Amino acid sequence: MMEFERPLMEKSAEMLCRGGGHILNVGFGCGIIDTAIQRHRVASHTIVEGHPAVYRRMIQAGWARKRNVRIIHERWENVDWWNYAGRFDGVYFDPFPLDAVPYEQVLWRECLIKVLKPDTGVFVLYGPTLNRSKVRREAARFRKRAVLDSVDSCVVDVAFPTPEWQELGVGRHRVEVFSLRIPSRRWNQR
Ligand SMILES: C[S@@+](CC[C@H](N)C(=O)[O-])C[C@H]1O[C@@H](n2cnc3c(N)ncnc32)[C@H](O)[C@@H]1O
Repeated sequence: MMEFERPLMEKSAEMLCRGGGHILNVGFGCGIIDTAIQRHRVASHTIVEGHPAVYRRMIQAGWARKRNVRIIHERWENVDWWNYAGRFDGVYFDPFPLDAVPYEQVLWRECLIKVLKPDTGVFVLYGPTLNRSKVRREAARFRKRAVLDSVDSCVVDVAFPTPEWQELGVGRHRVEVFSLRIPSRRWNQR
């Protein structure tokens, strides 16, 4: 995570926490989004972090002592998500860099369907070049169709060239952030 991406983390946290409740973030990194989530005073804040050094840094910084925080020190692929079925009001997923091979994305979609509160729970995404039609395509990849819930935006000042921002380039950009939700069906209300 680069410092200039902070506005995206702040906006994502705002959208995740809009309804309050129980929030899940996968991938602590520099803790930018988790620090922003804490400002929204949600009922619970679960953080999955797989890297031992990042986990140590979280412990040293006092994250385990926060009243509403639960840390799962595990790779997300190894978490037993059945223990969190239908639990989360807001879910964010940023465990990059990871070896993003297609089956992992399919696996994550299945986990998300399981843990998100049906109908009202939202997951939030952004990407330097993500737009409504790309988000709709992403939504259609879910076994159970996801739907676009809301769109907001923020300004990002890209400070230096990076591969992720190559297409937009250095300079000031308005970037959209999207929330999606999954309408209920019998099978994801277990
Ligand atoms: C890009 S950083 C997240 C940045 C974060 N959004 C922020 O606001 O600072 C990615 C984090 O995900 C963690 N991670 C990567 N693969 C993971 C996995 N399979 N399971 C759990 N955590 C993972 C990394 O150790 C790293 O801390």
